[in-house]
Amino acid sequence: MNEFPNGFLWGGATAANQCEGAWNIGGRGLTKADVITGGSKSEERKITYIDKDGNPGVLANKRSSIPKGATHAVLDGYYYPSHESVDFYHRYKEDIALLAEMGFKVFRLSISWTRIFPNGDEETANKEGLDFYHKVFEECKKYGIEPLVTLSHFDTPIYLEENYGGWNNRKLITLYERYAETCFKEYKGLVKYWITFNEINHPLMIAELFKENKSKDVYQSVYQQLHHKFVASARAVKKAHAIDIENTVGCMISGITFYPGTPDPDDILLNQYKWENIIYYCGDVQCRGEYPSFAKRLWDLHHVQLEITEQDKKDLKEGCVDIYTFSYYMSTIVTTHPNEDVVSGNYSSGVRNPYLTYSQWGWALDPKGLRYYIEKIYDRYKIPLMITENGLGAMDHVEADGSIHDTYRIDYLREHIKEIKVAINHGADVIGYTSWGCIDLISSSTGEMSKRYGFIYVDRDNQGRGTLNRSRKDSFYWYQKVIQSNGSNLL
Ligand code: BG6
Repeated sequence: MNEFPNGFLWGGATAANQCEGAWNIGGRGLTKADVITGGSKSEERKITYIDKDGNPGVLANKRSSIPKGATHAVLDGYYYPSHESVDFYHRYKEDIALLAEMGFKVFRLSISWTRIFPNGDEETANKEGLDFYHKVFEECKKYGIEPLVTLSHFDTPIYLEENYGGWNNRKLITLYERYAETCFKEYKGLVKYWITFNEINHPLMIAELFKENKSKDVYQSVYQQLHHKFVASARAVKKAHAIDIENTVGCMISGITFYPGTPDPDDILLNQYKWENIIYYCGDVQCRGEYPSFAKRLWDLHHVQLEITEQDKKDLKEGCVDIYTFSYYMSTIVTTHPNEDVVSGNYSSGVRNPYLTYSQWGWALDPKGLRYYIEKIYDRYKIPLMITENGLGAMDHVEADGSIHDTYRIDYLREHIKEIKVAINHGADVIGYTSWGCIDLISSSTGEMSKRYGFIYVDRDNQGRGTLNRSRKDSFYWYQKVIQSNGSNLL
C-alpha cells in the first residue's frame, strides 16, 4: 500500500491554553496556565502566587505545589504567555480557513474548561463560553473538518485546585462529568471525536523525573488523583455513548518509546518496568477497564493505598475508550549502568542514543521509534489508534520576502509519516494523524514562542511582541500535497 486507508483523518492539533489567549474575556475563569510565566530551555517556567500573609511568591513550576494557604495569582512584572497566546479566540476564522486550505480532515483542539464552568462547580454553564465553541465548530463544519475535542488539556480550574484540593478530591469526578455531559449535549451533531484528558500519564512522568523530591505522600496523591481521573474519564465515555451513538472517545497518552541501554538483564527489566510505569499503567485502565497486575508492584513500591470503590470498578469496566490516541515526539534510553551523557526532553531523561540526532531542545529524533510504539500498542489493545501529537519544535527564520523554508520540519514529519505507513502495512489500524501545533503556539514546557511546530507561522516573539499575523511556511504547501494525495506523495 502506498496510499493511506480511505478516510484517513489528516490534520493538526492545538490546545486552548496554548493558543486561544483571551484569558479573562467572556466570563472565563482562571486556570493554571494563566499563572505560569514564560521560560526557556535553560530557565524553568515559574508559577506565581500570593501567600497567606499577602506576600507575592514565585516557585519553579512542576517541582512542587504552592505553599499551604497561598492562592495562585497573576503578579505585576511577570510575563504570562497564555494570556494572549496567538489569539485564536479572535482569529479562529482566519486560522480554520488556512487549515481548510491545507485540506485538513480533522482539527484537534481543546475546550477551555473554565470558559464553560469558570470555577468548575457552578450548576449552570457560562453561555458565552458555550457560544464561542459553537462558532468554532460551525466554522469547522463549513469546511468539512471534523473537530477532535480534548475536554481537559492541562487546565483544571484553579478554583477547584484551591477550594477542593484538585483531583485529590473525589468530588471532581462529578464536576468533570457535568462538564463533559454539558459539552456532549451542547455540541451533539457538531463534534463526534472526543479525548477525555490530554496526556493523562503526565503526572507519572513528572513524579519519575523529579523523584528525588518526592515523599510517600506525593506518590499517594499522584496515584489517587489519577484514579479519580480514570473514573471521571470512564463516566464521561459512558455519557458520550448514551448521548450520541456516533461519539468516539479516546484516551490520550504521552507516548515515549523506551529502549534498554544494554543487553544486561537488569536493563531489560528496568526498561520493561519503564513501559509499565509510564505508558501501560494508564492505557491499560482506560482501554481494558481494570488495573493491570503490575499495578501492585508500583503501589507497593510507593506505599500507595488506593481508595477504589465497587462503583469505581464498575465504571472503569463500562467506560473503556473506543480509540487509543497518543502523542509521540521522541525515544529515550533506560539503563542501570552509570553514564554521564544524559539528555532530557519532553519530561523524561535518559542516556544519549549514538544512533540518533537531537532537536535544538534535546529531543531525540526517532521516526522508527514511532513505528515501534504503534506496533507494540496496537498488538496490546487491538483498538484503532490515532497519533494526536507529533512534530518538531524548531526555530524558524523569516526571509526578507516573508517566506519560511522549514525543510527540517518537512523532513521530520515525512520520516514519521513513512513509519506510520509501514506500521499500517504491518497490520496496525491507525485512523488518523494530527501533527502538533499546526499553527505556531506557546510551548507548554518552556513557555517560548520561538519553539515552533506549525505549518502556519505566527508573528510573535518570546516577550509577546509582534503583529500576530499569520503566514504560510514551506511545510504548509508540503502538507497540502500529502493530504491531497492521501499520503502517497511525501516528497
Ligand atoms: C505535549 C503536550 O506534551 O507536548 C502539548 O500535550 C505540548 O501541550 C507538546 O505543547 C509539545 O511540548 P512543548 O513543551 O514543546 O510545547
